[in-house]
Amino acid sequence: MGFIDTIKERAKADKKTIILPESMDKRTFDAAEKILKEGIANLIIIGTPEEIAANSEGYDITGATIVDPFNDPNKQKYIDKFVELRGAKGVTPEIAKETMEKDYMYYACLMCKCGDADGAVSGACHSTGNTIRPALQLLKTKPGISSVSGFFLMEVPDCEFGENGLFVFADCAVNPELDSEKLAEVAMLSSESFEAFTGAKSKVAMLSFSSYGSAKHDRVTLVADAVKIAKEKYPQITVDGELQLDAALVPEVAALKAPESPVAGKANTLVFPSLEAGNIGYKLVQRLAKAGAYGPVLQGLSMPVNDLSRGCFADDIVGVVAMTAVQAQNK
Ligand code: ACO
Repeated sequence: MGFIDTIKERAKADKKTIILPESMDKRTFDAAEKILKEGIANLIIIGTPEEIAANSEGYDITGATIVDPFNDPNKQKYIDKFVELRGAKGVTPEIAKETMEKDYMYYACLMCKCGDADGAVSGACHSTGNTIRPALQLLKTKPGISSVSGFFLMEVPDCEFGENGLFVFADCAVNPELDSEKLAEVAMLSSESFEAFTGAKSKVAMLSFSSYGSAKHDRVTLVADAVKIAKEKYPQITVDGELQLDAALVPEVAALKAPESPVAGKANTLVFPSLEAGNIGYKLVQRLAKAGAYGPVLQGLSMPVNDLSRGCFADDIVGVVAMTAVQAQNK
């Protein structure tokens, strides 16, 4: 059974309620039909009767709950919650109402915040920034976490590295620039994500263009400092670095460059030093190695909300909904 089939089975075992706010996109309904038919999650779709009628034609979405953002008996509760959370930032009841009606992701996050759903998935027709900003503003981070980051669960075919070809790559989606403290936090969250999704022990490599001080540069120091912080602050995780990618993955290279390392040569969780490196790195592996790239999945949020690629297919939405449901189970 492939990775995503395992996740779907886990989602089915304890069904969660996930919101799909993109009723303006036909792929939402294609995915919804599949999710409902397979019993992966209970679904709430946000949309007006016109949007639903225009885009759901030909798809059986019997069983989904439809919430019309212009005519919802619970709407005042969500407006009040929005003002409670963002009043200090200038959000009045009028602004709250208008924002929720214009941007259904705000509506979805408020439903999650009020306990009416367990998570949300969006991004088939919205940018990453527009998808995750409402979640950052309304749901906020888990207690004790300073930054939300985004990982991909990579499934590389015929691969002897990682956990039989399974890896977590982070941060590939959210933070353009991270300091050492935040990079260390990404290492801890990524370790937790790897273990939650694969059930295997995570071994985190903090990547750079240097292994164990082989090069001197501020960019190397940033990662080396993050390793120190991660080891001190999160003793429960197995983390090491700074390591070059080959030293992290390939036992023969690890034996030369970092022979004493508990991670080198066996890393399955790769923390990249910047968003450029992470985003380019996952796309290289996805395209050149024809790897499955599931995500970006957000880690560190108080409730699971996840993004989609705008080039996604309905099956990708199904996969991300299953992962979101599993995150909700683990919450
Ligand atoms: N973790 C937690 N909270 C955050 C984070 C974070 N990483 N970033 C911003 N916030 C909070 C801020 O503190 C702020 O909270 P407040 O309003 O209560 O004070 C709120 O979110 C909004 O922050 P801004 O800085 O105003 O938001 P911004 O408009 O800069 O958006 C965002 C933040 C969306 C994460 C931005 O950094 C971004 O666009 N990142 C890049 C996303 C991207 O394009 N990724 C690549 C594509 S993904 C792919 O290829 C799969």
